[in-house]
Amino acid sequence: MSGGRLAGRVVVVTGAARGQGAAEVAALEREGATVVATDVNGGEGVRRLDVTLADDWADLADHLRDTHGAVHGLVNNAGITWRARLDEVTAKDMSCVHAVNVNGPLLGMQHLAPLMPPGSSIVNVGSSAALTAHYPVAYTTSKWALRGLSKTAALELGPRGIRVNTIHPGFIETEMTASAATAFRESNIRETPLGRVGTVEEVTPLVVFLLGDESSFITGAEIPIDGGLTSHGGVKSVSDALLDGTRR
Ligand SMILES: NC(=O)c1ccc[n+]([C@@H]2O[C@H](COP(=O)([O-])OP(=O)(O)OC[C@H]3O[C@@H](n4cnc5c(N)ncnc54)[C@H](O)[C@@H]3O)[C@@H](O)[C@H]2O)c1
Repeated sequence: MSGGRLAGRVVVVTGAARGQGAAEVAALEREGATVVATDVNGGEGVRRLDVTLADDWADLADHLRDTHGAVHGLVNNAGITWRARLDEVTAKDMSCVHAVNVNGPLLGMQHLAPLMPPGSSIVNVGSSAALTAHYPVAYTTSKWALRGLSKTAALELGPRGIRVNTIHPGFIETEMTASAATAFRESNIRETPLGRVGTVEEVTPLVVFLLGDESSFITGAEIPIDGGLTSHGGVKSVSDALLDGTRR
């Protein structure tokens, strides 16, 4: 496709073998981008890249320099969860999860920003966990750390014309959430004003928007995409309890 909002742009997506990453690749290609899909599990059309390994990022940067000369977009989408709670989580759990969810985006920005001309854009994929006291300790702390990393990156890369924004998905149907208990899904729906879970197709338009020129003055921002889950500060059950109009 020669037209499209991202025509002529080279965009790297991590964690692109499935879930939100795979959907982002398809959406970005529909908008005309040349997408380099990467994942720790390589595969057809997906380059093998473990986001925790600096050498993998250095190899990718060399490849992009040789083949395209520049990179215009990076979606730090790869992420893992680990649902241990406060009393059981270990230092090793913390290191493993933070290595992927925090060090991964850091290494990606360090290696690819030097190839980015002014007008480039980075999207970091956070989580509603980054805005709340979500129960899995390693995951939640990693996503809060990613918020801080995104803010400092936006500050530092802004003068070079590179934007950095964070999106915070709520419960999105993917293999990650499929591995959670049924009670997790049901309680998320109860806490979500729109009363349902989200789909990967509802996340990708925001990623396209943040990578393109329509968002050219937006950087350092955090955008929830969660059906309102994080908008009410924990009072939805109060509102719901009084909804029938007879109790005020
Ligand atoms: N699904 C949700 O409800 C939800 C909610 C909030 C945030 N998120 C975040 O969205 C992103 C995508 O999640 P998803 O739901 O599509 O998950 P998913 O588990 O379906 O896909 C994640 C992908 O990341 C890859 N990956 C894991 N470790 C990697 C590594 N070290 N290097 C490279 N790739 C690696 C996996 O192989 C997989 O293909 C993650 O950052 C996740 O934390 C998901």
